Amino acid sequence: MTPEEYYGAAFPLLKQGESYLKELIETYPNICGKDELQPILYIKTRIKTPESMMEKLRKRGLREDVHTALQNTHDAIGIRIICSFVEEVYRIADWLEKREDIRMIEKKDYISYPKSNGYRSLHLIIRFAEKDLKDIAAEIQLRTIAIDFWAALEHQMKYKRNVQHEETIRNELKRCADEIASVDLSMQTIRELLQSDIWEYE
Ligand code: GTP
Ligand code: MG
Repeated sequence: MTPEEYYGAAFPLLKQGESYLKELIETYPNICGKDELQPILYIKTRIKTPESMMEKLRKRGLREDVHTALQNTHDAIGIRIICSFVEEVYRIADWLEKREDIRMIEKKDYISYPKSNGYRSLHLIIRFAEKDLKDIAAEIQLRTIAIDFWAALEHQMKYKRNVQHEETIRNELKRCADEIASVDLSMQTIRELLQSDIWEYE
């Protein structure tokens, strides 16, 4: 089934919401001096596939139609913002929170409170405030590039059945996530040191 078939009349609205958010995030002041790394490295967006949406509803014991989907889920529109540094994640979230064209519904801070598998990201659930997109929801995930790399590999576990050495892999993934978090913080500290040097000698 195509997304157009599944989402029906809501599909153009979802596409509109997806572009709106992408364009909004592209207006984030991403300017930096030539010695600095860009705050936002890249943005990925997607409309949840009908298969994935129906599976989510099925797991929750809900009907699988689009009406039920849009009433009971908030990630038909998904946006992922990949940053160089952890502090940018929070800066961008604060910037988004101040906007009047979107309402922040929920914030899940898996960076301050990592999941037990080691997953770290900041998730924002928003709803559009604008008239034509009113009440359409979207999930914005913010994370560092290092954690994004980890999450892509970890995600593969979920699709594999009968993984050999599953316990070992889980333990290794957890160890890597913790190391990445520690490296992310060190990178930030190094950047701060470099920046203070630049100020001193300019
Ligand atoms: P769903 O997982 O969407 O049913 O909702 P939830 O209420 O559990 O939301 P949560 O914020 O935990 O997860 C939403 C999304 O974040 C998921 O669909 C994934 O894209 C991502 N995510 C959450 N946890 C993990 C994780 O442990 N590993 C990876 N790779 N991605 C995760
Ligand atoms: Mg989940």
